[in-house]
Amino acid sequence: MIHRMRDVIVAANWKMHTTPADAGELAVTIASRTRESAVTRVICPPYVALATVRDALANSDPDVGIGAQNVHHEAAGAYTGEISAAMLAGLATWVIVGHSERRRDAGETDERIGLKLGRATEAGLRAILCVGERAEERDAGAAEKVVEAQLRGALAAHDPAILSRAGLVVAYEPVWAIGTGRTALGSDAALMADAIRRTLVQLGWGSAAEDVPVLYGGSVTAGNIAEFLAEPTIDGALVGGASLKPDEMAGIVARASLTARARLAAS
Ligand code: PGA
Repeated sequence: MIHRMRDVIVAANWKMHTTPADAGELAVTIASRTRESAVTRVICPPYVALATVRDALANSDPDVGIGAQNVHHEAAGAYTGEISAAMLAGLATWVIVGHSERRRDAGETDERIGLKLGRATEAGLRAILCVGERAEERDAGAAEKVVEAQLRGALAAHDPAILSRAGLVVAYEPVWAIGTGRTALGSDAALMADAIRRTLVQLGWGSAAEDVPVLYGGSVTAGNIAEFLAEPTIDGALVGGASLKPDEMAGIVARASLTARARLAAS
């Protein structure tokens, strides 16, 4: 059951794809194929393409949000090659935090991800916090426990009122579904969305837990998005591979607009 009307969000995670030379055109093409005011659209290009995408969208479709794919956990300092939240001012209004590829390749811990959330929020960035279990954890029946621990580790030190006001989004991305072509079942993703909001309640979020958008991510395409959006507890998708393909994005956002419009009509 939908407590209050939650936004429907489709966020594109371009990962380490595109260059400043081609990202603007791709963003404009995707924007023009997904023009749908009921759906919150976000594109997260690589850092070096943020300015190009910002400028390209400012002229063609300023409704599309722009996000970074990561942010450093410290405000400033001797961190060669890193990007702070303050540096993203004017370039992005969203940021992905705790993606499983960064947990895996950059050794990001839940505590560090929690610090990143703090930096993002202080800088006025809207964070998409990624959580999700690995295959062996799901096979062992520990999926919910793992996700709950990730949430506790990242969120326990934060004031729920501040993160709630900042519009925190949680993306449930089972690691085994990312880039594999194998998705979770819609029903399993919906159970996880329930578990995520239950954990938020345990962390002191109260009724604000019901207002937190929960996205599904992991091999989402135009062909399978309906299974996830059929679940009232799922509020959209974080899309990787398919987000580089305008046809796929057009199909995903078209399906998302049905859910968004149905929610608007019901509210
Ligand atoms: P995928 O990636 O859609 O390519 O599986 C999703 C993600 O990692 O956010």
